[in-house]
Amino acid sequence: MFEHKPRPEWIAAEEFLSTTVVHPDPALQRAVTSAAEAGMPAIEVAPNAGKLLKLLVQLSGAHRILEIGTLAGYSTIWMGRGLPPGGSIVTCEYLPQHAEVAWANIDAAGLGQKVEIRLGPALDTLAALAEEERKPFDFIFIDADKQNDSRYLDWAVRLGRPGAAVVLDNAVWEGAILDPGMDPVNAPGIIEALKLLGDHPRLDATVIQTVGSKGWDGFALARIT
Ligand code: SAH
Ligand code: DHB
Ligand code: MG
Repeated sequence: MFEHKPRPEWIAAEEFLSTTVVHPDPALQRAVTSAAEAGMPAIEVAPNAGKLLKLLVQLSGAHRILEIGTLAGYSTIWMGRGLPPGGSIVTCEYLPQHAEVAWANIDAAGLGQKVEIRLGPALDTLAALAEEERKPFDFIFIDADKQNDSRYLDWAVRLGRPGAAVVLDNAVWEGAILDPGMDPVNAPGIIEALKLLGDHPRLDATVIQTVGSKGWDGFALARIT
């Protein structure tokens, strides 16, 4: 795995913000600890980023959410906390162990009725979703294998409604977007996705750089036009 390099003061500030402002609930904390206990990588979004997802869901009034990359359900639960009654999330995960841990966490968070985990490679699930009779998504969070980021963006445009929000995690990747040799596996996919965010005729986007427990990274936010 690519090494992320958080500075101690970034971690300390994030912890202060988390306890002072963000207030993750016990079900969210369980999603983090259960992942660690299961030996899963600690690559869920930071608490302040998770809360940002929840607030964006609420501010945009999203009812139907698509997530690509479930892990242990941490970001799923944050977004679920922002859903109105009747809202739903489809989340894509290809590792059965991750899906199993995530399902227990999502159910314990009281979101079992609202969340559907689709097991399998996300590109297959996205193609299947396009074949199903379903309303377009209002909010799409992309956070899986970075090599496919631009393909996931293309699917987001196809599966989202005009005006939908698209959030893409890991948009700066320790600065590897400037020096793909730092991570030849993932950086080219991230760079390709950033170019697509800037050039796609139906995407209007920005990227916010972040530092914290996950190192130096970024959140891209786009609106489907
Ligand atoms: N969004 C989560 C973190 C996701 S980590 C959170 O913030 O809590 C990325 C996840 O995507 C991992 O669980 C990994 O197994 C999954 N993944 C990677 N490539 C995938 C693919 N091609 N299809 C489906 N899931 C994939
Ligand atoms: C990794 C993946 C992520 O989605 C993330 O937010 C941080 C790290 C990783 O694969 O290293
Ligand atoms: Mg991520």
